[in-house]
Formats: sequence, structure tokens, C-alpha cells
Amino acid sequence: MTAMEKVVPSEANVAFTQENHPNNPRLQRIVLSEQGLKAFETATSQWGLQAIEYKPFLRFAVANALDEACGGALSPVLNQIMQTREQGAFLFEYEGTPDMDASEFHVKLSTAISHLIGVPNFDAMYGKFYARFTVRNKDDSDSYLRQAHRRMELHNDGTYVNERTDFVIMMKMKEENMEGGDSLILHIDDWQDLERFYHHPLAKQDIQWGSPPSKQVDYKVHHPVFFEEDQNGKPHMLFIDQFAEPQNMRQGLYLHQMGESLEAEENCSNIEVPVGSMLVLQNHCWLHGRDKFVAHPGLERELLRQRGHFSDN
Ligand SMILES: [Fe+2]
Repeated sequence: MTAMEKVVPSEANVAFTQENHPNNPRLQRIVLSEQGLKAFETATSQWGLQAIEYKPFLRFAVANALDEACGGALSPVLNQIMQTREQGAFLFEYEGTPDMDASEFHVKLSTAISHLIGVPNFDAMYGKFYARFTVRNKDDSDSYLRQAHRRMELHNDGTYVNERTDFVIMMKMKEENMEGGDSLILHIDDWQDLERFYHHPLAKQDIQWGSPPSKQVDYKVHHPVFFEEDQNGKPHMLFIDQFAEPQNMRQGLYLHQMGESLEAEENCSNIEVPVGSMLVLQNHCWLHGRDKFVAHPGLERELLRQRGHFSDN
């Protein structure tokens, strides 16, 4: 789709628009109108955050309220995007300002999106179906997740867990004194070295994957980088440089060369995610990372993530 399309719900208000993102035409930009935002906020105002955290079925009611605020037109569009390999990604934004507390609203909105396309997995690092975490100027954690001054390399999520991670949602909750730090995304069909690595003898060999203590995952998993094919026979991928645990020289060099190739790939796109917006990716055909930030003592950024599996919603 090249031109912006207006989707008109029953009350004749424009609920959302869809267009190709200027930095990568695969990525769809969806903008919820102010009318849509208000209708969603009104319909969900009786449900507090705690109730949504305690009652999983309420999350589906929140999702349904968002779809109804869009005249039932949003769910088919989002699911179609996620099931179409050539796209498989959208940036969801909204117009206007919520009346309620912004962070509570953002949890609700991301919950609506995740439950329109699937079901989120339990996030062991945060102990809920979503995780919120802050990146500051200094960090002493045990992975690159919260480290500001370096580029976080391209990877898939869900590489070291035994739950299926079909989608990942990354929402910007708050940002102060930030320069740089765009999201980096690469569709694996745009990776110029894909064939070289996909047709390599190690492409289908099991690799061991583990994670540091902060992730709260106390087991290791074994799967190949190219762990399955989609219904059209095209590869799905699970790769992350930090958590691969190669057991011999051949595996080590294969993974090292893969990381080098991905970091050098010029088809990688920079995507700015404004506060209140979320980037939603089909996790097995998109790699994601984060560009480095410019150092600033007051630098602070809060993110929310949800990861889950598709369901027939
Ligand atoms: Fe990630």
C-alpha cells in the first residue's frame, strides 16, 4: 500500500490510518485517531491496571474495546500485517492525549494490541505478562539490554526460552535527554548474506543457548539458528549473539561470522519510536536492535515490552 488509507468506523469518524513507513516500506505505520483514542479510553475506564494484571480474560476485553473503537476494522488489518511475510511489522501511534495517567494508558494500549494478535508469554524478568525497564546513563547489569552507549546488535527475541515467541512489542513509555537510540530493524529477506548462512552445513545444526541470571531463566535450550520454515518454505530465524553457547570451533566461527555480517548489513533500517508509540514485529522474520545513544548525565528512557505467540483471535 502506498497511499494513506482512511478506515471509517460506523459513526463516520476516522479511527485509524495506515501507510508504509518512510524508512522501510515493509513496516506499516498505523495511527489511531484522537476519536479512536477517546472511545477506547472511555470503554476501558472502569478497569484498573491491577485488575488487568490479575485477570487474564480482562485483557481480551481491553483488546476488544480497542477494536470496537475502530468499528471492528483494526483487528483484521493488524493480523493481516503480521501474517504477511513481506510486511510482518507495524509501528502503532496515536493522536491526542489520554486523560488518564499516561503510563497506565500505555500498558492498556499495548495489552490491547498484544491480545488482538495473540497471547503474551509470562515475562520472567519482570514477573508479569509485560516488562517495564529503564535505560540510564550508567548501568552495571549483566547484559546489553540496559546499556546506553553501545549499539545493541541485531537479534531475535525468545532465543533462549522454550516458549514460542512469534511477536515482540516494544513501546516507548518515557524519554528524557535522549539523542540517538533509534530502533534498528532488518527483515531477514533483506539480509544480503541470508543464502550464504541459510545454506551452510551448520544452518540446521542444534546450537546451545543460555542466558545470564537477570533473565531468570535457569535452563538451556538447543535449536538451530534456522529452526523452521514458514508455510511457503521460507526460513524463520532465532539468533542472538550474547546468548549463543557454541560447543566447538566450527559453531563458534559460524556464529561469529553471522554476527559480523548482520552488523555490516546496509539494509538495516533506523526507526524512531516516539513516546507512546510501539513497534510490533513478527519475531522470526525480523531482527531488531538499538542504535547507541549520545551520553548525557540525565539520560533516561523507559520501555515496555510484550512477547508472545500468535493465536486465532
Ligand atoms: Fe530484543
